[in-house]
Amino acid sequence: MKLLKIISVLLLAMCIGCSSGDDGGPQVGGPTETPDPDSETPPVDNSDPFLYSATQNLKDVADFPLGNIVSASKLASTSASNTTFKDILNQEYNSITAENDMKMANMFTGPDTYDFSDGDAIVAYALENGFRVHGHALIWHSSIPNWLNTFEGTDEEFEAQIEAYVKATVAHFAEVTDGDGVPVVASWDVVNEYFDGSAVRTSLFTQRIGTDFHEKAFQWAREADPDVKLFYNDYNIAGEVDKRNAIISMVSNFISDDIPIDGIGMQMHLNHDWPSTDLPTSIQDIADTGLLVHISELDVKANYSDDLSELTVERAQAQEEQYQRVGYYYTSIVPQAQQFGLTIWGVRDQDSWLYDGGSDWPLLYDNDFNTKITHRGLVDGLEGVAP
Ligand code: G3I
Repeated sequence: MKLLKIISVLLLAMCIGCSSGDDGGPQVGGPTETPDPDSETPPVDNSDPFLYSATQNLKDVADFPLGNIVSASKLASTSASNTTFKDILNQEYNSITAENDMKMANMFTGPDTYDFSDGDAIVAYALENGFRVHGHALIWHSSIPNWLNTFEGTDEEFEAQIEAYVKATVAHFAEVTDGDGVPVVASWDVVNEYFDGSAVRTSLFTQRIGTDFHEKAFQWAREADPDVKLFYNDYNIAGEVDKRNAIISMVSNFISDDIPIDGIGMQMHLNHDWPSTDLPTSIQDIADTGLLVHISELDVKANYSDDLSELTVERAQAQEEQYQRVGYYYTSIVPQAQQFGLTIWGVRDQDSWLYDGGSDWPLLYDNDFNTKITHRGLVDGLEGVAP
């Protein structure tokens, strides 16, 4: 296998060396919009068992938005790799989420002081290139600005700061609309990870506002914008049954108490072999709430127990199948009117929060932007090929 990898790297290097701008180079940047049968463009090296030549863009095989994550600095960059990144983004996706730039720690810079500039740049890019923006995330225990952690005001003053922040942020990002008058920012993760297992997580927000801070947050967001879609977002909704049940019971309390909520974000940070049967069960359970369902942060670890020093074909195929399962179950289980979309948490492996110096390979593109077989798995699933 090592030999195969070496040969494929050599072949790829030769292709790069002999290509020129106009007549194409190696197939980087995912599938082309209209594959040209007469093109001299060398195909992806099919002898590499980890790669495949994609012919379809993800957004074209799904009836719902397909998303990925961005940062303002990447979108502004003209480096070769960020240019390729943007080519892939524009070709394959029609929805974007800020990986970090629209979190509280980045935007809430001081008491009554906000810096929306990174988010504004992302929204401007989305407007220019026809993307929907999913806002992430208004309140999350892991994204608190330092000044707020040490805020010396009373609890009432603390709550007033959070209320003002939520309202100002939602109102600000409601301002930009496309040519049809549709707001570019369609939705927000209002509260992220309220639960720790099936219990309410202790956080600065529960301590200073109370365990009902999440209900208040959804009401504040709705007051600031009557139309934007409001999501609750969490991890392990697939895989942790007790946590899922706690979330479902929270949703039914919201509905009976008239707390506004439109959707649930299932983060979907998965492993190649986990969850198994609970994956379709969880998607069904969440769809049964009647709310919108967003697969909001999809990635699949291939090496979660660190038993591999390099990816094996067998593990890559298991990972491909897990991607296929997500695409297939989401497409076939969630009623179309509730399919808010599917967002992948990164483009290249090396850009993933899970990369860890190269010890895992969780995404759909390798570090040279070639499409991996995981991409094929997701395409198959989205097209309805049963795993
Ligand atoms: O801002 C500094 C930057 O100035 C510095 O140069 C850099 C070098 O280390 O660190 C930068 O901040 C890091 C930031 O990512 C940008 O790279 C933070 O330390 C790091 O904690 C942060 O990690 C992000 C993490 O959320 C925490 O906010 C990850 O990129 C992001 O992928 C991850 O995403 C979360 C979702 O929001 C919620 N669900 C779980 C998911 C994975 O943890």
